[in-house]
Amino acid sequence: MSSETGPDENVSDENLPAEQETAHGAEVAEGDPFVDPGLPPHEHRIQDIDERAAKRSERVVAFLFTLSMLATVGFIASFVAFPIDEIIYVWPLGHISALNLSLGLTLGVALFCIGAGAVHWARTLMSDEEMVDERHAVAATPEVREKVIADFKQGAKESALGRRKLIRNTMFGAVALVPLSGVVLLRDLGPLPGDKLRHTAWKKGKLLVNENTNEPLRPEDIAVGSLTFAKPEGLEEDDEEFQKEIAKAALMIVRLEPSDIKDKRELDWSHEGIVAFSKICTHVGCPVSLYEQQTHHVLCPCHQSTFDLSDGARVLFGPAGHPLPQLDISVNKDGYLEAQGDFAEPVGPAFWERG
Ligand code: FES
Repeated sequence: MSSETGPDENVSDENLPAEQETAHGAEVAEGDPFVDPGLPPHEHRIQDIDERAAKRSERVVAFLFTLSMLATVGFIASFVAFPIDEIIYVWPLGHISALNLSLGLTLGVALFCIGAGAVHWARTLMSDEEMVDERHAVAATPEVREKVIADFKQGAKESALGRRKLIRNTMFGAVALVPLSGVVLLRDLGPLPGDKLRHTAWKKGKLLVNENTNEPLRPEDIAVGSLTFAKPEGLEEDDEEFQKEIAKAALMIVRLEPSDIKDKRELDWSHEGIVAFSKICTHVGCPVSLYEQQTHHVLCPCHQSTFDLSDGARVLFGPAGHPLPQLDISVNKDGYLEAQGDFAEPVGPAFWERG
């Protein structure tokens, strides 16, 4: 229960009273240095004694909940208003995604305002009577349980949830709208790629360029048993679209003995045993890069899918569902390796089988 008794500042070892009543009624033995000073006198807040101040607080709380609702609406509107790849400059953050900035700000404001509204409501309008309850056995007695229930009902009554309809309604609105932010985030599962994954930068006549030296490749540059990575001519690292394009067009070139090639189409699409396959694993798209000369197997380091490059990059082991797509290549009149067109199938994860 609340106490009207203040701390006794004159208490010392010498002049402790024989028995002292603490602020909440506990008795202190003579000579006990740990005197419980009790609770300070309860001070009423302005809102407890002035209904106009209480109304002002009510409006502040309602304003914060309303702001939260508007911020949630702004969060949803951001999804519609900002393209996913729009980059803006914001000092001091630098170049950042306009969509991410807007989503972060609006969601932050929505959640902050709900928290701030609840705190302001609790601090200014809910009861702030100090309560003291002595320690007791873990199992509450029936009387205590009744008291707890009575206190709970009293608290519910004092929160004035039923009487302060403005707060109640705006709070329900804010709390009900915030989960919508999570629902609209589902949009990031899309949009579907359309036919973007069906085409790469490879075209008829594009030279095969060594990814390390940036030089167009000739057949004599590729030794039997070696593994070379290539990209299409004209795709430069400082191009804006480089990362997007190389993620689809990355190529792996291997030279086999023509007599080792088992697959007829693979042989037709090769040049003197030089075969070119997509470097993108058909499982979930890791770069395939571990080549075993003797067996002509190539291994994906992510989940160990293994492909046989002498047999149309057939899957020998692992979760990949498709062979690696092959690029049809030949040699142009200047003696450089060139593509005869794009890959015949989409590269990367085998989504297209399910289409
Ligand atoms: S990404 Fe290659 S095996 Fe999983």
